[in-house]
Amino acid sequence: MSKPINITLDDIVARTTDLPTFSAAALEVMKMADSANTRAQDIARVVSQDQAMSVRVLRLANSAFYGMSRKVSSLPEAVVVLGMRTVKNLAMVAATYPWMSKPLKGYDLGPMQMWHHAFGTALGAQMLAIKSRKCDDQLAFTSGLLHDVGKVALSLWIGEKLKAIVYYAEREGLTFDEAERKILGYDHTEVGEHLGKNWNLPDDVLLGVRWHHEPAKCEPYHAVADCVHLGSAMAMSMGLGIGGDGLLYKFDDGCYLRLGISPDEMDSITADYVESFKKYESMFQAMAA
Ligand SMILES: [Fe+2]
Ligand SMILES: [Fe+2]
Repeated sequence: MSKPINITLDDIVARTTDLPTFSAAALEVMKMADSANTRAQDIARVVSQDQAMSVRVLRLANSAFYGMSRKVSSLPEAVVVLGMRTVKNLAMVAATYPWMSKPLKGYDLGPMQMWHHAFGTALGAQMLAIKSRKCDDQLAFTSGLLHDVGKVALSLWIGEKLKAIVYYAEREGLTFDEAERKILGYDHTEVGEHLGKNWNLPDDVLLGVRWHHEPAKCEPYHAVADCVHLGSAMAMSMGLGIGGDGLLYKFDDGCYLRLGISPDEMDSITADYVESFKKYESMFQAMAA
């Protein structure tokens, strides 16, 4: 098949006006996740610099999911009541939700579907990081949330033409990312990495984005790639954001060994995962409100 689509990776990132943005405050919160010295007030101060993010964090903190007996009315209070890690996760969720919840036409993903897939992957990756103790769970969460961000950019630029890639992949028996590379010369993991560099996202977050389809190729190896790979498979097994390419996912079962997770442990993680995801439904509703 000839190359019908002539947009380079640099084109995609250079024409940033239509692309999703990542606020300076969100980026700072993400970087704070790596620091053991971060204090509650620091997180509250940074989140408060982004008004839209502050509003969403407070809305989430007051959603039925957290079942607070009294209203949480300020960010410092939210940090104290919910804990710093939860507020960091909420801040990441609040920062990505506005553009991740939109439909992605080219991928056959309706409103919220990409978001469900991103959040489902983040949740799964975080649980795997906690169980395996092979990587920081906040890192796994953020990387899982952003893993398919390249699709958001690709969908904006080539939209309907993505269907041709799905068709081509099916016909040739290729995975979706293999077909992207054949037709475009790059795949959505590279677009995501490129975008992420442009936003100055931390390098280890980008490792999960770049290698989530081929975790064994992550060099030097980082368990975040396996957590996101398996987390994404968990999300798809629940039917979250399968879209046009979900059936063409090549699963690397070496990830169990690398993460040191036994089949029994995986069964218990999966049971907890299904339970947690159901609980989060109310959170999505609170956020969409
Ligand atoms: Fe992907
Ligand atoms: Fe994915």
